[in-house]
Amino acid sequence: MMRWVCTSNRGFANLAMEELRRLFPGVSFQQLAAGEVFAADIPLERDEMLAAIAEKEPIFLRHIQPVDRALPVAGNADDLSVLSDTIRYVGYAFDEKRTAVHVRRAEATRFPYSVSDTKAVLDAVLTEIGGEPAMQEPEVILTVYAAAEELLVGWGSPQELLSDWPGGAVRFQREEGQISRAKFKLLEAERTFGLRLSDFREALDVGAAPGGWTSLLLERGLAVTAVDPAELHPSLKGYPKLTYLNKNAGDVRFGRGSFDLLVCDMSWSPMLMVKLVMELRQALKPGATAIITVKLMHRKPLQTIRDVVDKLEGAFELRKAKQLFHNRDEITLYLTKRT
Ligand SMILES: C[S@@+](CC[C@H](N)C(=O)[O-])C[C@H]1O[C@@H](n2cnc3c(N)ncnc32)[C@H](O)[C@@H]1O
Repeated sequence: MMRWVCTSNRGFANLAMEELRRLFPGVSFQQLAAGEVFAADIPLERDEMLAAIAEKEPIFLRHIQPVDRALPVAGNADDLSVLSDTIRYVGYAFDEKRTAVHVRRAEATRFPYSVSDTKAVLDAVLTEIGGEPAMQEPEVILTVYAAAEELLVGWGSPQELLSDWPGGAVRFQREEGQISRAKFKLLEAERTFGLRLSDFREALDVGAAPGGWTSLLLERGLAVTAVDPAELHPSLKGYPKLTYLNKNAGDVRFGRGSFDLLVCDMSWSPMLMVKLVMELRQALKPGATAIITVKLMHRKPLQTIRDVVDKLEGAFELRKAKQLFHNRDEITLYLTKRT
């Protein structure tokens, strides 16, 4: 039996729990931050649990961290010294390893130190015991979750934790003149699914307006055909590699195999989206990649997702389905067209 701190997007913890229940019969939960962070007691060894997650990663589970040590919170300076001593004692886990320290606090915690103060102290402890404090590309992440009455401490690789951001909360810098926040979704999809957008040549962007995704694809050097009955942002007009079709996606036709990338962010009824994408499949090359958001508008999101994927699987292979940090009431699918 091992305890894990699990994080989902706010309001989606129930779905993450449901997925974990299906994966791990006998799991039990305790809420740590309403709708978002919870502890899961999973009746498996650490490696068995990680293997199961790697094989069938839950859609709504954004981040996990093992609880290797649980320290009671006293609410005074002892908390930081006990935490520091604990890390000194398990120094072997960080020896000569690039180590990032991720600290999060529940609102109700009695732990009196801020995230940055705690991190500064732990960085100093890591240096003292031969670790290498690192912000970028860590080999291991030391995680501390300050719950109401306990410090939950653990460590693992970014792959094991499902993210190299604290709690899986991916932050991108907002750029000057950025057309839409939606751009962050495609940036996050690129990272999360291990893609390089610049590897593609011809993209079809369905539901493109105002043009955040289109602008990212153009910046990466792709030729983009953007389809939307709504107007694109005027700043996009200057791109020679942009073709804009001011139409409903149901009314456009393309030659066979015209595109090696389809992106679709229509925030529309999932089944209508599926119908449209299936109609457009001839326009994609065999093996083409598709990045599609699926709006969760019904009562049973897991069922909606299963129905959508079942239908798309007639033409596509599902690589991954994930609720990204930048997804609101939706998830993102990564698929490739069958050859
Ligand atoms: C969430 S916005 C897309 C945002 C875009 N990804 C961005 O980065 O700026 C959804 C868009 O889908 C478009 N849309 C909805 N139904 C459509 C359809 N049947 N055909 C084409 N576009 C559609 C809407 O007009 C709207 O502009």
